[in-house]
Amino acid sequence: MNEKSAGRIPPWWERGVIYQIYPRSFQDSDGDGVGDLRGIKQRLDYVAALGVDAIWLSPVFPSPMADFGYDVADYTDIEPMFGTIEDFDRLVAAAHRRGLKLLLDFVPNHSSDRHPWFVDSRASKGSAKRDWYIWAPPGPDGGPPNNWISDFGGSSWEWDEASGEYYLHAFLKEQPDLNWRNPDVQAAMFDVMRFWFDRGVDGFRIDVLWHIVKAEGFPDNPVNPYWHDRLGQRDMLIQRHSTDQPEAHAIAAEMRRLADSYGDRLLVGEIFLPNDRLCAWYGNDERPEVHLPFNFALIENAWNAETIGRLVADYEAALPPGGWPNWVYGSHDAARIAARIGEAQARVAAMLLLTLRGTPTLYQGDELGIGRVEIPADRIRDPRELREPGLGLGRDWSRTPMPWTGDAPFAGFSSVEPWLPLNGDWQTRNVANQEADRGSMLWLYRDLLALRRQRTALALGDYQGVSAAGDLLVFDRISGTERLRIALNLGEVETGFVREGACLLSTLGNEADRDVLRPNEGIIIDLGAVA
Ligand code: GLC
Ligand code: MG
Repeated sequence: MNEKSAGRIPPWWERGVIYQIYPRSFQDSDGDGVGDLRGIKQRLDYVAALGVDAIWLSPVFPSPMADFGYDVADYTDIEPMFGTIEDFDRLVAAAHRRGLKLLLDFVPNHSSDRHPWFVDSRASKGSAKRDWYIWAPPGPDGGPPNNWISDFGGSSWEWDEASGEYYLHAFLKEQPDLNWRNPDVQAAMFDVMRFWFDRGVDGFRIDVLWHIVKAEGFPDNPVNPYWHDRLGQRDMLIQRHSTDQPEAHAIAAEMRRLADSYGDRLLVGEIFLPNDRLCAWYGNDERPEVHLPFNFALIENAWNAETIGRLVADYEAALPPGGWPNWVYGSHDAARIAARIGEAQARVAAMLLLTLRGTPTLYQGDELGIGRVEIPADRIRDPRELREPGLGLGRDWSRTPMPWTGDAPFAGFSSVEPWLPLNGDWQTRNVANQEADRGSMLWLYRDLLALRRQRTALALGDYQGVSAAGDLLVFDRISGTERLRIALNLGEVETGFVREGACLLSTLGNEADRDVLRPNEGIIIDLGAVA
């Protein structure tokens, strides 16, 4: 894929790096053990010093918290636990003063069952808002209308005794799916986007975008022949008819038109699909859709050089003309990168994420190398874990509070016991300690982000794979006459590698100059100007 033609000024988000904040777990300011907007505002200098460009906030809207905010009861206000709309306005202003953009989480596929729209919808078959959600009579056998399975296990259909029909929920029954085939729903939800754009937000991460339209007539989903009982119930079926419907693309295009009417705003779509179908969500020049369909390849694949080399090449090849890539390995849903591959290799992962071509999204706490966290059974909160325990689907382990200091109770996150436990090693693994230690994970992230900012080749340059075999992954980033080489040792043994050029950064510190990569070492070298 080619570097953009000279003279084109790339939009901020192409150069930019996104930092995801999970508001419940960033900073508590009012002593209720749950993070909040004022807390985030207090910590903005930390975020700015990291060197990122934008913050994405997981949902902060009024919510019964059945799915910790992904069940929205009012799309145009702030959850009291998180603060007020004035707090939100102050947060946006404070972020902007520091040059940070702010993205909100837009949850269009479903609302809370407490949303007034749904309360009205379920009141009776004749309700004005009946058709705002997805209702169906029982199937031929008197049970649910079809075989669809919720992502959190169990049927996707919930029987509503009072009104005598089933309603659809792709997630919890407390999260009924909105009916995006209804133009009134579309209009109302586009108004929601306008509401926040008018308040100055710089864009949205759009929750489960590929779910928003379902096949007409609700045909049964095909059975997944590869399912086994270590997988969640969701994977028993292939979600052919419940997700990724062609009609959804027109809606994404409309969201984009709206965003573009506000200027330089960004839409990131949460979409789990193979490359060919994922990339369709960019749309095309005539009808663009989201700027960045999230690329979860680093979350979904094994961590080895060959696999990663191949998945990068496949993804680069799948991008449509002008489609800007993006990368992510952590979120409030995924297992922590350091828990997956170990802390030593997580340093190599950081170098990979921040040197690949495309916009990276970082997840809070990964910059501290937070790894496995112990959570006693009686403190599990995630409904996904509670409904299908022990399969490794639970998300609490990635949602523990930020450890700010070893010198204050509860790591400075809160003055009371937090809603989820801290990482067990918070007394040593915390922001204050890592700020004081030039060799820490935090400083590695800062150094990588600073280098990415300095070097156009890293921020915007072309990608060229060099080798991906054994433990060694090597690629170049090229801009004009500048060529940087990234060499990563994904293994735990020393591996031969000739270091031509000047070493700009090593994940282990800069002192080595032998013709090797040390175990779990990644380096960035400057090959100098190329003709
Ligand atoms: C997305 C969110 C996840 C949530 C689900 C339902 O995948 O990231 O946290 O549970 O959507 O809204
Ligand atoms: Mg609080």
